[in-house]
Amino acid sequence: MEWTRDRRYRRIEEVSSEKMKELTNRVTACPWRQSFHIQPKTGLLNDPNGFAYFQGTYHLFYQWFPLGPVHGLKYWYHVKSKDLVHWEDAGIGIAPGYLYDNYGAYSGSAIEHNDKLFLMYTGNTRDENWVRHPYQCMAVMNREGAISKLEEPVISAVPKRYTDHFRDPKVWKQDDHFYAVIGAQRENMTGTAVIYQSEDLIDWSLEGELKTSLQNFGYMWECPDYFELDNQGIFVFSPQGIEAEGDLYQNIYQSGYIIGEPFNPSDRTFHHGSFQELDRGFDFYAPQTTLGEDGRRILVGWMGLPEIDYPSDVNGWAHCLTLPRELSVRNGKLIQQPVKELKLLRKKEQNAKGVLENEVKMFDGIQGTAFEMVSEISSLQAEEVGIELRANETKKTVITFYPRMKKLTLDRSCSGEEVGSKYGTSRACYMDTAKLKLHLFVDTSSVEIFVNSGEEVFTSRIFPDKDCDQIRFFAKNGRADFKVQKWDIR
Ligand code: FRU
Repeated sequence: MEWTRDRRYRRIEEVSSEKMKELTNRVTACPWRQSFHIQPKTGLLNDPNGFAYFQGTYHLFYQWFPLGPVHGLKYWYHVKSKDLVHWEDAGIGIAPGYLYDNYGAYSGSAIEHNDKLFLMYTGNTRDENWVRHPYQCMAVMNREGAISKLEEPVISAVPKRYTDHFRDPKVWKQDDHFYAVIGAQRENMTGTAVIYQSEDLIDWSLEGELKTSLQNFGYMWECPDYFELDNQGIFVFSPQGIEAEGDLYQNIYQSGYIIGEPFNPSDRTFHHGSFQELDRGFDFYAPQTTLGEDGRRILVGWMGLPEIDYPSDVNGWAHCLTLPRELSVRNGKLIQQPVKELKLLRKKEQNAKGVLENEVKMFDGIQGTAFEMVSEISSLQAEEVGIELRANETKKTVITFYPRMKKLTLDRSCSGEEVGSKYGTSRACYMDTAKLKLHLFVDTSSVEIFVNSGEEVFTSRIFPDKDCDQIRFFAKNGRADFKVQKWDIR
């Protein structure tokens, strides 16, 4: 079926319940459904939105097109959780459709104010000539969880000197004022971010651009986020239009951060270091953070990218969210660790250890298709050490460390069904370490690799066969010590 414009902008209630049922059955039967990640029940999921801890519960929304694996009329879908691990389905959070968001309730964020959760988002509209007009809209969720939209947008006009690519407000509170940062494109086709200020979340005044040293850095900055951590200011954003450079910026679009002195509202100048990518894997984009229950800064990302076909498309759905990660700062760098609550998923522990020398080895009981695993690899004398996971006789996803070259790679050329191979089949990063700790979360169709306690992360979708349950460890041209701890998940 061709996804014509009409089909992409059809509302869910215009589709018969039989058709939705048919789609749901197709999705449910897909062999790549995840077992412990947030995924759409049908259709396409993209960015996480409105992530907040509000009155004892985590609320998380995501961009959702219900009717198929394409970008069309976007809803906010709502899930909630007490522990960041078990998520309850809370249904559609924001449906598009009123004057100011009739072509999509696009990305945005949440903030608590006066006992309510304010959801600020971009209303996407199109005029009769298909020209886009973005509005920044507000919806409010009360204590009972009922969400209602404000009648009028809170920011109606795109300020002068910016194009209609003006979206994704992220709100925070600083010194008793509210600020919103909005992703923007200048008329000269460079990306930037624009700051607004408000006392009540309703009346907003334009302050001006966030002044960074990245003046010519891509053509659009999507999904900005600002927060402070460890007395530093951190600005996260997803720039589009950055060229690949060695091992860097290999994906179609990037996601990363700059870190510096806390944001100074009086002149909006942000003194910062260089742009750093958040993730080294194939599928990571448009993350959003919130402050957790106990002051932790928690990040969730979209495990996917725009404009790339995924093998699950044929079964009527695409994409999932990453696991929540706790952020900290070490030596000017963001460290990402899986939140500790994920231990709740652990079932049946298995342990193994051994010295490997010029061999590929499996350990008794260490296998699976959905698991958490911590491998410590030390005494690195081999030229290459690593792990092959989700493997069988013909398929494997391979993590390799080259101690002499100080390089870590993830290779999905033999993982299974191809995805995004136009952008290459391996990813790499520099890694200078005497021993390697790989903390893995593997699900039916994804892998998240936290390296050396979160110094680097590789996040990727993979589409192996169902029977790819082998985990093999290897040391080539020399030896290395392996210590492995693994838990089944669910
Ligand atoms: C990022 C993005 C946002 C936009 C949303 C629409 O993937 O393009 O900029 O608000 O997706 O779904």
